[in-house]
Amino acid sequence: MKYTYYGHSCFSLEMNGKHVLFDPFISGNELAGHIQIDAIPADFILISHGHADHIADAVVIAQRTGATVICNWEVAGWLQNQGLTNVHPMNTGGSRAFDFGKVKCTVAQHSSGLPDGSYGGNPMGFLLFAEGKQLYYSGDTSLTLDMQLIPKWAPQLDAAILPIGDNFTMDVADAIDAATMVGAQKVVGVHYNTFGYIVIDPENAKNDFKTAGKELLLPAIGETIEL
Ligand code: NI
Ligand code: MN
Repeated sequence: MKYTYYGHSCFSLEMNGKHVLFDPFISGNELAGHIQIDAIPADFILISHGHADHIADAVVIAQRTGATVICNWEVAGWLQNQGLTNVHPMNTGGSRAFDFGKVKCTVAQHSSGLPDGSYGGNPMGFLLFAEGKQLYYSGDTSLTLDMQLIPKWAPQLDAAILPIGDNFTMDVADAIDAATMVGAQKVVGVHYNTFGYIVIDPENAKNDFKTAGKELLLPAIGETIEL
């Protein structure tokens, strides 16, 4: 399964021939200036919560590609107010099969207000089941005991995509504990170094994971790796 990183918490997974884009925030990310937003393919867009650093480019990409946007009920309504029609609302605990695979929405401990101050419902993470693989994207979250439920639904997790930047989310140490709780040996780090509040040392982070017997992958912005 191909994972392409677009910076911050924006990434794409190719699942069953579909491009599934997560948390599109590119135009506001100085580190992602070399990414051509107009060239990003998307059949589906999954949005974890309403904060601008996860939704800022969702409308423009969805309008160009016609992608189906999957997010919580309140964010879905807000996107419809922005003119999007191809929106699929879900909510925490719910699962649904799509063309690319199955999605289960998981609990995230965070907030979700929308850029204009509208109520954005509750933040979510996603479990993904496709091509015989099991992936977990936690969304923005603290370490939470809810993560202990993940192995019940995904007993053979192939990888977890977790925030590691601290300040707004888990730091590296908490992400290592999260990886242990969810049963992930391989972690892809997101939500770090985009702006001053969340600057970390990537090499230290990799070493901390290694010391814990785990692997932290930090692809460059624009890089594609195999998960
Ligand atoms: Ni957030
Ligand atoms: Mn965020």
